[in-house]
Amino acid sequence: MKKTLAILAAALTVFAASAAFAKPTPAKTLIAFYSWGGTTRGIAQEIARKTGADVFEIELVKPYSDDYNTVLKEAQRDQRAAARPAIKNKVADMSKYDTILLGYPNWWASIPMPIATFLESYDFSGKVISPFCSNGGGRLGQSVSAITKLVPNATVQHPLSIYYSGGDTLGRDLDAWLKKNGF
Ligand SMILES: Cc1cc2nc3c(=O)[nH]c(=O)nc-3n(C[C@H](O)[C@H](O)[C@H](O)COP(=O)(O)O)c2cc1C
Repeated sequence: MKKTLAILAAALTVFAASAAFAKPTPAKTLIAFYSWGGTTRGIAQEIARKTGADVFEIELVKPYSDDYNTVLKEAQRDQRAAARPAIKNKVADMSKYDTILLGYPNWWASIPMPIATFLESYDFSGKVISPFCSNGGGRLGQSVSAITKLVPNATVQHPLSIYYSGGDTLGRDLDAWLKKNGF
């Protein structure tokens, strides 16, 4: 029994390692993102253009206010309450993806809470999640550790910080990041 368990554990380790480091292909890659003001959406579209991967925009049942000062307060309220804003759409078949390029704006030095809802809505075990985070200078903040805590069975690697929409260097920065991710 002990031996069987040890063999099983070894097999699982090899399987997990090969799943985590398998070369991603566009067909098995999903670009999933949340964007409040459209900047992250623009970056996601550029990644889609470069890779040909599927795109999923996280949409909320109750969107945040369009007003900047109001959304600042709403976001802080949700973060303090560890809220999970309901998402109105669903990825048709998450099992077909092994790599998720996950985009979001830096909100109060971390992830917007809709990203937490998204990460708790599917089984990401054995998948690779590569974050890309648009921000106003705070870079990634605590967002990567927040993601890692939410998906302990996924491999979270190669995060990319993008200053607002990325400016003139966006194309080059994305190319370098995609290369790191095996594209
Ligand atoms: C609620 C809220 C909180 C934000 N908090 C931060 C922050 O802590 N650090 C930072 O660098 N930028 C912060 N920003 C700026 C956004 O990260 C930045 O404008 C980003 O490009 C917006 O992307 P989007 O248009 O896809 O929503 C915040 C913006 C909003 C609306």
